[in-house]
Amino acid sequence: MRHDDRHMTPEEFRRHGREVVDWIADYWERLETLPVQSRAAPGDVRAALPPLPPRDGEPFADLMRDVEEIVLPGTTHWQSPGWFGYFPANASGPAVLGELLSAGLGVQGMLWSTSPACTELETHVLDWLVGMLDLPPAFLSTGAGGGVIQDSASNAALCALVAARERASGFAVDERGGDGSLTAYCSTQTHSSIEKAVRVAGLGAANLRRVEVDDLQAMRPAALDAAIRADLAAGKRPAFACATVGTTSSHALDPLPAIGAVCREHGLWLHVDAAHAGTAALCPEFRGIQDGLEFADSYCFNPHKWMFTNFDCDCFWVRDRTDLVRALSILPEYLRNAATESGRVVDYRDWQVPLGRRFRALKLWFVIRWYGVEGLRHHVREHVRLAQEFAGWVDADPDWELAAPAPLNLVCFRHRGGDEANRLIMDAVNADGGIFLSHTRLDDRLTLRLSVGATLTADRHVARAWRLLREAAGG
Ligand SMILES: Cc1ncc(COP(=O)(O)O)c(C=O)c1O
Repeated sequence: MRHDDRHMTPEEFRRHGREVVDWIADYWERLETLPVQSRAAPGDVRAALPPLPPRDGEPFADLMRDVEEIVLPGTTHWQSPGWFGYFPANASGPAVLGELLSAGLGVQGMLWSTSPACTELETHVLDWLVGMLDLPPAFLSTGAGGGVIQDSASNAALCALVAARERASGFAVDERGGDGSLTAYCSTQTHSSIEKAVRVAGLGAANLRRVEVDDLQAMRPAALDAAIRADLAAGKRPAFACATVGTTSSHALDPLPAIGAVCREHGLWLHVDAAHAGTAALCPEFRGIQDGLEFADSYCFNPHKWMFTNFDCDCFWVRDRTDLVRALSILPEYLRNAATESGRVVDYRDWQVPLGRRFRALKLWFVIRWYGVEGLRHHVREHVRLAQEFAGWVDADPDWELAAPAPLNLVCFRHRGGDEANRLIMDAVNADGGIFLSHTRLDDRLTLRLSVGATLTADRHVARAWRLLREAAGG
């Protein structure tokens, strides 16, 4: 029986909540039977929806029926074990339950005082991660640095760039706006979020230098140095560089020690983006990917890619929080409180662009506690093992070739038949529905990418991918 106020009673919530949890568990169990890529055509989903919202509330069963009949066919299944596209966005039971709790608590963690646990759990888990990933101790909150959860690597980069901008301009841009003299540096392989940050932060895309890469798609430090010197000679003010640990296209590893030395010599803020690959550092044997990270002013990686934590959850650290907090802090009267004034608490609204913030640390805490460090390492090693096995098959087949080194869980490869053949192979394999993979261009050639990292992916799914690829190639 519905109540006049239309709120869902605790009893109704219990009942429907169980139905939803059951639905999700069933979904995960039947994922393998669903075509990975949605077959919806543009407009299909909207055409199935009523043009107007309901005047009166509807039974919960009707909502779930439409999830099944309308939403599900329009969904591409990133959680499918056959998901090999773009990058992983793996989720897990503990993460989803942590997310549910976060929604149920519904707190705003903008200030320490608006929900102390929201802030302190986050600080604590990010300090844990410094140890788990063997990051430089300077990132610990117990010193001058500290970590914060951002919604995305894109916003982490934006915050790093704003701090760098203010450090370089003596906080003049915050006050008066920019004069177009500040310059930023990344490689031709850097994720587009850096250009977006440069635009949003007002440096201007024309002041972003795209430094050339070597044969392995990694930034050339000498070219970075030359670009900075040319800008200095032209009266520009080099402020920020972004190096990547695991580029989006091919998992190239920019040489951090040499890039760090260049940045230090010229006084640039070095941000290191390890959005996807950073998770690998859970395992001691992969930590070489972050050699030189001690040069970084800021660093981020995405548990929402490869650490079983559903979107959104980007972990972002700075070695010195002073410039970041000064660049982003504005304290109106209505947010003043004794805890902030005591100087004894962290107010994370000063570490990000929005004011409001969710209790994201809960899901990350749940994931770390449920799996344990060894459990997480096990899965990272498995994903790397599966990708390496696939790379071995490609390498051993005369019709196929590896297009780039595959240091971790991403394999870039192609059929030797040329761009058109590869496009047809990819389209055929994706149309089959059993797996999904995506492409890039490397050395100006169409390149297929197999990114291993879905929570449920096992040997048989990777073997199936290889079989489907070879069948599509007619071999
Ligand atoms: C290296 C790298 N940086 C940044 C991003 C963007 O991540 P987000 O969606 O968290 O902004 C990606 C995702 O593709 C990435 O691979």
